[in-house]
Amino acid sequence: MYKKILVTCALPYANGPIHLGHMYEHIQADIWVRYQKLIGNTVYFICADDAHGTPIVLHSKKLGLSIDHMIHQIYLEHINDLYKFNINYDNYYSTHSIENKELLISIYTKLKQKKLIYSDVIAQLYDVKHNLFLPDRFIIGTCPKCFSSKQYGDFCEICSTTYNALELINPKSVLSNTTPEVRMSKHLFFDLPIFNNILYKWINSGVLDYCLINKVKEWFNVGLKPWNISRDAPYFGFLIPKEVNKYFYVWLDASIAYISTFKNFCQKNRNVNFYEFWCEHSNTYLYHFIGKDIVYFHSLFWPAILHSINFRKPSKLFVHGHVNINGEKLSKSKNNFITANSYLSVLDADYLRYYYASKLTLGISDINFNLEEFVQKINNDIINKIINLAARSARFIIDKFSGYLSKKIFDQTLNNIFINSSNDIQIAFEQLNISLVIRKVIYLADLANIFIHNNKPWLLTKKNNYHDLQGICSMGIHLFAIIMAYLKPILPALVERTELFLNTKLVWVNHVNYSKLITSRINSFTHLAKRIELTQVKLIMI
Ligand code: MSP
Ligand code: ZN
Repeated sequence: MYKKILVTCALPYANGPIHLGHMYEHIQADIWVRYQKLIGNTVYFICADDAHGTPIVLHSKKLGLSIDHMIHQIYLEHINDLYKFNINYDNYYSTHSIENKELLISIYTKLKQKKLIYSDVIAQLYDVKHNLFLPDRFIIGTCPKCFSSKQYGDFCEICSTTYNALELINPKSVLSNTTPEVRMSKHLFFDLPIFNNILYKWINSGVLDYCLINKVKEWFNVGLKPWNISRDAPYFGFLIPKEVNKYFYVWLDASIAYISTFKNFCQKNRNVNFYEFWCEHSNTYLYHFIGKDIVYFHSLFWPAILHSINFRKPSKLFVHGHVNINGEKLSKSKNNFITANSYLSVLDADYLRYYYASKLTLGISDINFNLEEFVQKINNDIINKIINLAARSARFIIDKFSGYLSKKIFDQTLNNIFINSSNDIQIAFEQLNISLVIRKVIYLADLANIFIHNNKPWLLTKKNNYHDLQGICSMGIHLFAIIMAYLKPILPALVERTELFLNTKLVWVNHVNYSKLITSRINSFTHLAKRIELTQVKLIMI
């Protein structure tokens, strides 16, 4: 039975470029989506820009642009970067859309009717110099639990504690470097604690990897807290009906944009049924790809909102660690930053896709983007082991046989090893254990190269043994094709060039398709992929 699946990535903020940290998420989700489509499932893959919140207001001021103009510019840049990395979104939309506004207000109304929203007057930190209540990420201070300095107002990156900004020791405004004042303001709260039991059951139902469950359980032990869904002006977002100068908190409308982006897609594609995907007892699947920093929202607030409005809850959260560059956090100010655009101006998108794929294991450990390792991996694996396999076989097939392959598989035993790997590789893709896919494929590439090496086609030309020469080189091409079929979700552009070279489309490997030679004739061998040099790769650092 084929499945129907909706996949999302977390919505990138519209106040800066897509960088290599974001790309880790988009690439892994895209690989998974392409794999699911390849095996026959119906998948819709969506994302959007997260265009609301205080940082957007401040950034547009800094640029001297109107907010609308800035978020539109950034939107165009984001979709261009993602497109060039072959991230195949069915819809990439924005939280600042009419559909999102309508849905947000109807959901809010429902929550109010169900008495899940109440108001309270609370104390918050206020920057007197800039005349605004500070968002958590604009307050820095010492963690009240582990006393690490330079922690944000909501969450300690050292001990993973979440807290209220008022609890921070020695808080400072990031904007003015002054000590903020405590001021009172009325706010609206979503009653998260009453969902305690429902959420506890949900997080234990297989939606989270075991390594995260303990972390989330700690939040339950501390006790769930009501969620403040309102913000004071100046803000950029949607106004809350019947309130004075209060905006919906960006995180509420950002989550709801998962739904509204799909709604917008369904409006453009009338054959796709919106309710089939979002109704309470949906038979479809919903997967969210997110970073470890936003698990709280996706494992608590989001399912609670969905539950309250009688919508389906996610099938699984795929949570990843963060990307560091040369061992350090991404940081513009420390010149340790690579944007998608600066990478693409020098290097092939597929190379980053491959590199990330080779690092993608189960769990949430951070990964390191290391320039030397990157160069080595691309040259050793893609060029020396994979492309070279095709090149050394294609040379003889073109020169001696005008591109025609033999009719028979030369080594059936070896071919069986290749096609019988499909089960294991399929399981690894399914679980998002993509580094295992790579290890298995490279093992096969090693076997194929040993086969060529042992059979030495270059000696056969001298002996005029053309029958075996054609058989061995055809086998080399065929094994190369199987390798590329396995890598199709990972290297879409390289596989497209390979398909032109092979004169055939590569489908998912099952025992039937690849038990005969994959093609009867190849096209002349043009360079499918280029070797890279460290000096060239260093140019991507900005
Ligand atoms: N706008 C929110 C998400 C709202 S979803 C309803 C947000 N935006 S973000 O731009 O800061 O991050 C988007 C995604 O990129 C998050 O999943 C985040 O974890 C991920 N990453 C941002 N920097 C990253 C790294 N350095 N490494 C890996 N992923 C990172 O959060
Ligand atoms: Zn701490």
